[in-house]
Amino acid sequence: MKKVLLGNFKMNMTKRELVPYLKTLRRVVKNSQNIVGVAIPNVYLCLAQKYLAHSNVLIGAQNVHFENKGAYTGEVGANMLSDYGVNFCLIGHSERRAYNNENNIDINKKLKRLTMSEIVPVLCFGESAAEREVGRQFDVVTAQLCAALEGLTSEDVSSMVFAYEPVWAIGSGASATTMQICEMSRFVKDFLTKTYGIGRDQICLLYGGSLNDKNFAEIFDVEDINGGLIGGACLDIEKFGKMIKN
Ligand code: PGA
Repeated sequence: MKKVLLGNFKMNMTKRELVPYLKTLRRVVKNSQNIVGVAIPNVYLCLAQKYLAHSNVLIGAQNVHFENKGAYTGEVGANMLSDYGVNFCLIGHSERRAYNNENNIDINKKLKRLTMSEIVPVLCFGESAAEREVGRQFDVVTAQLCAALEGLTSEDVSSMVFAYEPVWAIGSGASATTMQICEMSRFVKDFLTKTYGIGRDQICLLYGGSLNDKNFAEIFDVEDINGGLIGGACLDIEKFGKMIKN
């Protein structure tokens, strides 16, 4: 089965590092059976477009504004991202929720904006360590999904991507266990199929949080997991390449 592997660069890499990276990535992905993309900082989209043109690598952004244009200093609209060949865009990453005060209302507006564009939204969600400690992970995830998806149709839901990223596993070096991922991915797919009347195979659900070249194989084997959102490990082209090829 084809897997989806999306790299999240976050605020990393310089132009000097990025160009050789993109050249290698292009080569690595050439004969891959998997769907591969990288979400890079906006300032480098132009470079990505140049070095990934006519390749199998999808280009991603890490955020978008919910309006297409206007007096929003420092923001970037979906139509601008489209101009640079952006195929997908992360929405609601926990770092944006934590450091940029992004709330479920903003996330819902951004999702709605992207459904009007050609860009595929990748909705990130997941519970914190404190929430899991008291057993609230399913309630928290349900609330995040309900709020983010408010007003969206079954068609919207089946054409977007979901990424379960428990906050405590991101950048910690310790991913969630396959048992925890199995439980949550089943729960999310049950919820989405029931709510939207769509099939399990119409939902693309990724796992994210300390995925690397050592643990990805068993995590990708989890029945309801269709791939991964990879932070730290995607910056190392050798590690990311290993994950893409296998
Ligand atoms: P990580 O990040 O792989 O470095 O844990 C994942 C993410 O934040 O998407």
